[in-house]
Amino acid sequence: MIVFADVTKRFGKKAVLDSISINIKKGDLLFITGPSGAGKTTLLKLIYCSERPDAGHITVADWEVSRLSQRGIPELRRNIGIIFQDFKLLPNRTVFDNVALALSIHGMNPGKIRHYVNEVLEEVKLMDKANLFPQFLSGGEQQRVVIARAMVSKPLVLLADEPTGDLDVDNAKAIMELFSKINGKGTTVLVATHDETLFQGSGYRVIYLNDHYIEKEYMG
Ligand SMILES: Nc1ncnc2c1ncn2[C@@H]1O[C@H](COP(=O)(O)OP(=O)(O)OP(=O)(O)O)[C@@H](O)[C@H]1O
Ligand SMILES: [Mg+2]
Repeated sequence: MIVFADVTKRFGKKAVLDSISINIKKGDLLFITGPSGAGKTTLLKLIYCSERPDAGHITVADWEVSRLSQRGIPELRRNIGIIFQDFKLLPNRTVFDNVALALSIHGMNPGKIRHYVNEVLEEVKLMDKANLFPQFLSGGEQQRVVIARAMVSKPLVLLADEPTGDLDVDNAKAIMELFSKINGKGTTVLVATHDETLFQGSGYRVIYLNDHYIEKEYMG
């Protein structure tokens, strides 16, 4: 589903990822970990073409991402749900509208939009907050809205960068349970995090990046 073959990414002269290879199967749930600056965020950005590799090949499903033209990027991104810290909820839109936005941009009719948004809000248990503005939700609830927004277009892949960063232990656990449930329905999920408690004892695959390389790979 996602393949990195000898991928190198440099910023200036410095290689952040140096000839790394990864093979992620459809339906996997996988953690990318390692110290700050190891390249976790960069690795996720390469998958949705926000950064381009300097060498090597990246494929996502049938897309040869490393060779994708600028015109091909929106279609790739429609199939990838993204949970990133710099991709915040819009404060002046309700929970419902924040989630609906991705669908209305694609010109879907309002009845269908309502159906899909309600379905995903049900899944993250936020139906009762649909008409509130994000500021009236707790941190954990806001993060569940972010997940709902990423999932509403039924992506093949979900990418999450430090998804539990600002949350306490219980909320972090709830977010992980949600990922596991989403993954159980067939979505491939990649979580970049430095928080070992998220994957310790989980049985999920963990890739440990350090010093531009995959230093080790193990089961959490
Ligand atoms: N656009 C950029 N221009 C220049 N350098 C960059 C850019 N993006 C990332 N880097 C550098 O690449 C390295 C890896 O960054 P990245 O954000 O991928 O690390 P990370 O593992 O996600 O770290 P953290 O745990 O702190 O989030 C860092 O040294 C960073 O400064
Ligand atoms: Mg990062």
